[in-house]
Amino acid sequence: EFDVKLASTGRIYRITKDKSIVAALSEAGVSIPTSCEQGVCGTCLTRVLNGEPDHRDSYLNEEDRMKNDLLLPCCSRAKSTMLVLDL
Ligand code: FES
Repeated sequence: EFDVKLASTGRIYRITKDKSIVAALSEAGVSIPTSCEQGVCGTCLTRVLNGEPDHRDSYLNEEDRMKNDLLLPCCSRAKSTMLVLDL
């Protein structure tokens, strides 16, 4: 479990184990464009302003992963207790 904070509104959303970031935000009325929902296409690519992503996609390369400033929220999660997303 971890929290996602949206930079634009400052609102915080709890992401439970059974849901992706995209699914949890969508239920809360925040939609992120998606296509494959499997971390392959890059459609949902989102900028990370703070926190450490747990990358589970197959879209970003090693260099992108290490920068911790992008994530694919259809499948990736967080290693830190909170991620601040540029949404
Ligand atoms: Fe395809 Fe997230 S929707 S990578």
